[in-house]
Amino acid sequence: MDLGRILALLIAVALTACNEVSAERTHRDFAEIGRADLGEIQARIEQGVALAVDASIPWVRFRANAPSAMIIFKSSAPVDRTVAVEVANAFEACDCSEPAQLIGPNILAFSLVVPAGSAKLLTIRPTGSSAVTPFRFAWVGDVQGGYSTFKRVRERINTDPSLEFTLFAGDITQLGEQSEIDDFIAVANGLDYPWYSVIGNHDAMFGQPLAFQRTVGRINVLFDYKGARFVILDTSAATVDPEVYDFLKAAMRPKGPTLRIAAMHIPPFDPEGFRDGAFNDRAEAARLLEILARGGTDLILAGHIHTLRATWQAGIETWISGRGGVSRGTAFDHSQTHYLAVTVDPEQNTIAVDPVFLSDE
Ligand SMILES: [Fe+2]
Repeated sequence: MDLGRILALLIAVALTACNEVSAERTHRDFAEIGRADLGEIQARIEQGVALAVDASIPWVRFRANAPSAMIIFKSSAPVDRTVAVEVANAFEACDCSEPAQLIGPNILAFSLVVPAGSAKLLTIRPTGSSAVTPFRFAWVGDVQGGYSTFKRVRERINTDPSLEFTLFAGDITQLGEQSEIDDFIAVANGLDYPWYSVIGNHDAMFGQPLAFQRTVGRINVLFDYKGARFVILDTSAATVDPEVYDFLKAAMRPKGPTLRIAAMHIPPFDPEGFRDGAFNDRAEAARLLEILARGGTDLILAGHIHTLRATWQAGIETWISGRGGVSRGTAFDHSQTHYLAVTVDPEQNTIAVDPVFLSDE
């Protein structure tokens, strides 16, 4: 067998293994992440993760990886049960379905009565987020352990109170290990408002079982905010798992907000060619873009490539922003440390993206 055929075979084996890991991660996302076993009561948050559980109280602590979250409680108990519920990374001003108590920065607590043999839904929604109204948020590209730079980004974001939340583009860590995730969360929690994150290839690299999913939360997330729809997708394996396509197609149905933003780590196509930082399969990249375009997507936000580049993919405004913490040496061009301030106006159906630059160290 010649060298070319051996290389082709090795690449095919690597892609197959990669796809199997991606399928496992996706299955975990939809089937496991967010569930809490409280004995006679089973709970699940749709847009987050259950961080800690004590069935003897019963008590559960969730983390939301989206501004709005739905938590369903199903009881098989013969009598009504009261559950102590905490939700971390929540907006402190909440239009929640139950009375909330603020017990820490962005941590809400509830005392929830779940009827015997029945179900109860707890909805978490920032005050005013049901209205169709302009808002702003920050998009921060790859931090990847560059905390000294990211802390300057964080402080700049904190000087702008009009930014209502921060979305990270993924690669928040170098290796995806639990200690790195914990370190990142400690630094990111210094943001004045809640933050959410896409998963990157570095976050999914060696952190088995995946610390990211079990600490940050779901990696395929749908949420609506002030008249805009957000779809967060796991593209960390340079592909989208078939189960995620089903999720995406449901999110792209005509029903719901018409102004739509898709957030992912690896973009479908790499306009720069620095590291071939795009999908493994160009035909699949085109299929994903077709789904997004037909679904009326107005903006794609991506990271992964350590640069800043505004482009159009399938007619969709696309921003690749990958310098939220990584050192200048990892960029092959003269791109500068930055984040994106995104202004969304669902009334006018417009989006404006403004890079905010910081000096390189
Ligand atoms: Fe990456």
